[in-house]
Amino acid sequence: MGKLIVIEGLDGSGKATQSRLLCQRLQEQGRTCKKVAFPDYDHESVAFVKLYLSGALGTAEEVGAYAASTFFAVDRYVSFKLRWGQDYQGDTILVADRYSTSNATHQTTKLPREQWDEYLDWMEDYEYGKLGLPRPDMVIFLSVPPHISQKLIEGRYHGDNEKKDIHEADLGYLERCYAGAGYVADRQGWHMLDCAPNGQMLSVEEISEKIWQMVRGII
Ligand SMILES: Nc1ncnc2c1ncn2[C@@H]1O[C@H](COP(=O)(O)OP(=O)(O)OP(=O)(O)O)[C@@H](O)[C@H]1O
Ligand SMILES: [Mg+2]
Repeated sequence: MGKLIVIEGLDGSGKATQSRLLCQRLQEQGRTCKKVAFPDYDHESVAFVKLYLSGALGTAEEVGAYAASTFFAVDRYVSFKLRWGQDYQGDTILVADRYSTSNATHQTTKLPREQWDEYLDWMEDYEYGKLGLPRPDMVIFLSVPPHISQKLIEGRYHGDNEKKDIHEADLGYLERCYAGAGYVADRQGWHMLDCAPNGQMLSVEEISEKIWQMVRGII
């Protein structure tokens, strides 16, 4: 059996950057590593996710936790079946930029606090139980306050705010996700990585080294 290591975090927290570097480092160590990313924008299974993120179905809160979760879960299921399920059966280490854990961070806080556990029970049973997606061996949450990650996203889009999706464009929504992430992380046993300990983003290399120290213990 392979291993599944998830690099999780809110929008613009450095997931793509860090999952790429982790995969490189594993390969340098002679390990077989495959990087996967969700949503899978290269496959038509992403259609519902795109509709949702474009705002065509309404705001994030209007679409709600359960409908949005199914769109992302279906895309993951297709990716598992067509792209990496076989690798996982072998001895490949899969490094995922987002995973089912993104539903947990992005959907939970749409609901009132007293419904979080019910939602998380449902989400875990649906994705890992009913759909049969593998549970991650390790989840590393890149913790970056939204006011800092927003700046990183704007840098990437060169200030063109039109390019933001409905999550990225809604700072209040991201603040709520950030506030709920600690709860979800505790419940699901994630490793929290504080990427901006003094209100300043650590360098790409510093974060990469911290991730490596966490990962080397389980491979
Ligand atoms: N530690 C860092 N310091 C400064 N800039 C960074 C750091 N990590 C990533 N960046 C830059 O911030 C932007 C967002 O990073 P990246 O695309 O890796 O994040 P992401 O979590 O994958 O974002 P999204 O959720 O939007 O897919 C990129 O332009 C990237 O080069
Ligand atoms: Mg990304």
